[in-house]
Amino acid sequence: MIGQPTQGGDIIMVDKSSIVPIYHQLKTLIQTQILSGEYPVGAQLPSEREFCDTYAISRMTVRQAIIDLVNEGLLKRERGRGTYVAKPKIEQGLQLTSFTEEMLQRNLVPGTRLLFLRTETAKGRAVARLHTFEDQLIHIIARLRLADGEPMAMETSHIPVSLVKELTPAALEHGSLYAALRKDGLHMAYAEQTLEASLAKGDEAELLGIKLKAPVLLIERTTYLSDGTPVEYVRSVYRADRYKFSLRLTNPKG
Ligand code: GLP
Repeated sequence: MIGQPTQGGDIIMVDKSSIVPIYHQLKTLIQTQILSGEYPVGAQLPSEREFCDTYAISRMTVRQAIIDLVNEGLLKRERGRGTYVAKPKIEQGLQLTSFTEEMLQRNLVPGTRLLFLRTETAKGRAVARLHTFEDQLIHIIARLRLADGEPMAMETSHIPVSLVKELTPAALEHGSLYAALRKDGLHMAYAEQTLEASLAKGDEAELLGIKLKAPVLLIERTTYLSDGTPVEYVRSVYRADRYKFSLRLTNPKG
């Protein structure tokens, strides 16, 4: 159990005469305690009852504050055990970086479990996204991507054999695909990417260690060489509880 606010001490109590709803005040209070490290990652929050007693507020009010914080990813509830401070989401900027680079930038250890690597003729979406033909050979690489050993995403990459003759399981298990492509002289210049909300399917949920139909982020990316040749089409499923994407928006009117 983690620190309780000191009665009448330096902790701001809820102000019932304020126009700010009480649940919102409690939410801000808990948020501040998380950000200040008073409630560190993994710490158990006091029970609803304890919050009720400490602040003399109703259980409904406490619940509303906690539900909001769970929905915002700051807290997680474990059935029958209690409410805990969640790990902060990994924030990914929308630059053309590899998973390995992203993790290293955040001081996390990147890991990969190779699910399969096979070569077959292009079909379906891969044909359109790689601007290729049905009978062209492509490498299909399915990988589970890990950060500090925790599953983060499932990625299925499609790469034309005409560009990369050989990809070995060892290189993909122990290294970066983008590093291997660069070693082959392929320099990725830009990518087109879409990002949409989705729900985890059976195999995805199992591999990512989340519940069936838990929210996930579905990303499709086609990456191009500087002359416009598509080099990779990838479909990725990221855990929505561990990931968020940030965008920089500019005003078109200047
Ligand atoms: C990101 C991209 C993928 C790409 C991968 C390469 O995750 N979404 O399209 O395949 O990076 O990562 P790495 O070089 O670590 O294998």
